[in-house]
Amino acid sequence: MTGLTIELKQALIEQACLYQKRAYSPYSHYAVGSAVLSEDGQIYGGANIENSAYPSGLCAERVAIFKAVSEGNRQIKAIAVVTCNGGSPCGACRQVMREFASLDMPVILANDQGEIVFESTMDGILPRSFGPEDLEK
Ligand code: THU
Repeated sequence: MTGLTIELKQALIEQACLYQKRAYSPYSHYAVGSAVLSEDGQIYGGANIENSAYPSGLCAERVAIFKAVSEGNRQIKAIAVVTCNGGSPCGACRQVMREFASLDMPVILANDQGEIVFESTMDGILPRSFGPEDLEK
């Protein structure tokens, strides 16, 4: 469905699976891995990192995106998310994705067997979104 090659999809899912194993989720026991493809072809992975002061933790998607952006890659070309059950990105992560993605960016949700559970786009998972251009005068 997405405009990504099979190879890139597989690479993103593999990285997300790898990072899911690095999740620090002793409180929820819900491990999430994510991988984002940047404009220059690099893949940045992230895992959810929880904290004993619960709100101080961060989701896997935002870890991966913030890694890319802090390395100078502000355009996210695709994202894969891996959980035990193909769970969906939370609202806060969707909004952060939106900041650095085009509306047609592929979004791939997979389970921890590496099987795709759902494929969509940025606009598909966050319709009628608010973004940087809304602040342009
Ligand atoms: N989590 C993510 O990493 N990404 C999401 O989009 C949804 C939730 C994490 C946060 C928390 O560590 C655990 O999953 C349970 O909510």
